[in-house]
Amino acid sequence: MSESAHGAEAGNGPFPVVIAGTGAYAPARVLTNRDLERMVHTTDEWIVARTGMRERRVAADGEFTSDMAAEAGRRAIADAGLDPAAIDLVLLATITPDLPFPNTACLAQGKLGAKNAVCIGLEAACSGFVFALEAARAFVASGAWRNILVIGAEKMSAVLDWSDRSTCVLFGDGAGAAVVQRGRRGRGIIGSVLGSDGSLSDLLQIPAGGCRRPASAATVAAGEHALRMNGREVFRHAVTTMTRAAREIMDRHGLRTDDIRWVIPHQANMRIIRAVAARLAIPESRFVINVERYGNTSGASVGLALDEAVRDGRIREGDTVMLLVFGGGFTWGAMLLEWGGAK
Ligand code: ACO
Repeated sequence: MSESAHGAEAGNGPFPVVIAGTGAYAPARVLTNRDLERMVHTTDEWIVARTGMRERRVAADGEFTSDMAAEAGRRAIADAGLDPAAIDLVLLATITPDLPFPNTACLAQGKLGAKNAVCIGLEAACSGFVFALEAARAFVASGAWRNILVIGAEKMSAVLDWSDRSTCVLFGDGAGAAVVQRGRRGRGIIGSVLGSDGSLSDLLQIPAGGCRRPASAATVAAGEHALRMNGREVFRHAVTTMTRAAREIMDRHGLRTDDIRWVIPHQANMRIIRAVAARLAIPESRFVINVERYGNTSGASVGLALDEAVRDGRIREGDTVMLLVFGGGFTWGAMLLEWGGAK
């Protein structure tokens, strides 16, 4: 595990970097556990007990990752008090792009009219939002770009095998966004600890559709374009790795668990969140949790939860917030924010 090059100094460097606005979007269609009971051999009781999920959102047929991204982005830009033309970089994380190329950042940029923005796509599965935030922080801190729109957006429903009960009940669609820019000294992104381990990539992946196994009648027949996961192994690694990342970033910044007002974890599974909370000895009441309503929205989940907690007033100026993620790759990260500080 390595700390980002400038992470530790981000809040105190020459250019403090802040989140100036947030936005989120979830599709209108709700898919409940009862609906799933009619689709696969499962029960509401099993899903609630094993995952904490009660419902998730599913995008309409003609609604794509770029549409959800553009709407969340539009809301974040408005929240920051900016015009879309003021955005100079769109940084979009997704594992469910509209197309293999061009990147979904370009497609979302076109839809939201951020006509002066450069568009970069990024893929870090469920860690995508935090990886993109860290990249945005570094770009702003270096002076390369001033107003960056970070988006995590997913149409997970498009990459699920709807006959596989062990995966199709777990995921949902949505998007979360944040505008990152220079802020006032003493507030903003304090630092981050990110990590990756490609040797474990086969525990969670979509096997076909890339250059290793291009789409063919055989890959379609074998269901290889759908997400596959070794649930138990992913669970085990998620708990130990997220706990370790959280401890490491607190140690680096001399913080105790009592100093953390809010933890925003990747919303993979209520049992993973509970296990991490118990190991860190941080009460569950200080975790922002919405997995019961959205399921696992992969790269969108932290952005969705952050926006919700800012909007409903839980997160306030001066609060120390920890974002905590784990996903396919494997990828993971912990990021500390001191909320507020926008100009
Ligand atoms: N309904 C009913 N029974 C089910 C269902 C279902 N939806 N799914 C699986 N089962 C059955 C299994 O077939 C198995 O039956 P068996 O004992 O007869 O073989 C039984 O339930 C137990 O299955 P397990 O896989 O052992 O169940 P577990 O308690 O491990 O829970 C789960 C499964 C929820 C997937 C869990 O392992 C988990 O949450 N893992 C982490 C998943 C995750 O976070 N993934 C995302 C990571 S981030 C990213 O990048 C996408």
